[in-house]
Amino acid sequence: MRFTVVTLFPELFDSPLAASLLGKARAAGLVEVDFVNPRDFTSDRHRTVDDTPYGGGHGMVMKPEPLLAAIERACEGAPPGAPARRILLTPAGAPLDQAKVRALSAERHLVLVCGRYEGVDERVSELAIDEEISVGDFVMTGGELPALCLIDAVSRLVPGVLGELASTEEESFSDGATLEYPQYTRPPEFRGLAVPEILLGGHHERVRAWRRREALRRTAARRPELIARRRLAPEDMALVAGDPLIFPASRTTVVLAHHPVFDRTGDVVTSSVTNLDIHDIARSCATYGLASFAAVTPVAVQREKIQHIVDVWLEDAREIARRQPPARARRGRQGREAAPAGGTGHRSEALAPVEVFASIEELLGELGRRAGQAPLVVATSARLHEGPGAPPRIGERELLVSLARAPERPVALLFGTGGGLTDPAIALADWVLAPIEGHGPWNHLSVRSAAAIVLDRLFGVRGP
Ligand SMILES: C[S@@+](CC[C@H](N)C(=O)[O-])C[C@H]1O[C@@H](n2cnc3c(N)ncnc32)[C@H](O)[C@@H]1O
Repeated sequence: MRFTVVTLFPELFDSPLAASLLGKARAAGLVEVDFVNPRDFTSDRHRTVDDTPYGGGHGMVMKPEPLLAAIERACEGAPPGAPARRILLTPAGAPLDQAKVRALSAERHLVLVCGRYEGVDERVSELAIDEEISVGDFVMTGGELPALCLIDAVSRLVPGVLGELASTEEESFSDGATLEYPQYTRPPEFRGLAVPEILLGGHHERVRAWRRREALRRTAARRPELIARRRLAPEDMALVAGDPLIFPASRTTVVLAHHPVFDRTGDVVTSSVTNLDIHDIARSCATYGLASFAAVTPVAVQREKIQHIVDVWLEDAREIARRQPPARARRGRQGREAAPAGGTGHRSEALAPVEVFASIEELLGELGRRAGQAPLVVATSARLHEGPGAPPRIGERELLVSLARAPERPVALLFGTGGGLTDPAIALADWVLAPIEGHGPWNHLSVRSAAAIVLDRLFGVRGP
């Protein structure tokens, strides 16, 4: 693998490229690094490589002529049909990740262009760059250290550099979205902290399963957005199914409060139960694997109405089961028992877990009694709540990270009907989720839409 670095400061590379594994890889001829300095392609007495920006503003911009000439020199000597890949290091580039590192390790020759000052003339990028890469959402003084990050990460994947290639197969991000499991070495106990027992036993299969489970748990706790990037593979699912740290939905109850809420005029009222809300939120809860769905209203006949909605569908399921002789049980696509009616689940399955309570406080008490500890209460609101008594605001990612810190604690997610929950109801919460917003001024989602969006943001699988 060859890297040619286009830089005004080649001396910055001396020690990082001479030490440790990179030094050995270069000595063994596995990795080759050479340099081209744009200053060598200037024609004036001062060897000028920068100029003031058109349009004014601070700082200087790298001039196109010497930089382009340097890039062209760096690309010389490529074998026919295998041109060098030209990369500009810039904070405006695509973030470098392990998948990109792996793709780059398949190239034969990378030309890495390092900016300085306020960056490079845009036309250089248009004329002579294949790809712009950033090493993170922060700004460094030049592209040299970002280029070193890239050289280091790519070189590790060049066969022979690490000695034993297997050591790159289980580390962080090797599958694109999982952090590495915790590592330990001797001594077995250090300052009161013991190495997990299972690692001392020498049972390879158990150690492998433990490491994979811990890798997934650590990812869920520190980088929940990575877990959301894909559905877990069946073998991972077998290891962590039912783990409340990885699947916080399984300990979360959605609460639909009809009281105390605002009406259109700002009065505090009890709203009527809406059939569609009960159906749609129950279906969202079933889809995202919630523990339960609780509807709250102080009006007895309204509670009966909710129970009636549920009963109609339970009866429908029973009726279908009665009509279907067991021997003729329909089979789904993968040979599983098919749902009694259309789709991938009968509506009764979503509605059966719906529970009804007279007040939010009664419901929270019941959740605490069942779990043996008070639930963490998270309110949702389209409004901003500030001032004394208002719970702190939290974003979805931050909420998932804090849920992972208390993996056994039940969670209640409060949604208000009508014009939203009143301030005293919001004050029951430990946190209030930041409002769902678009870029426009209008903001009045139905509660069932808001619930679906929040559940998807917290518990949905998004794909890469
Ligand atoms: C001071 S920075 C220029 C920042 C530029 N004005 C901006 O706001 O995007 C100078 C050079 O450092 C390099 N650089 C700085 N931060 C980087 C990062 N996060 N990833 C890759 N290169 C970076 C780039 O080559 C850049 O041209």
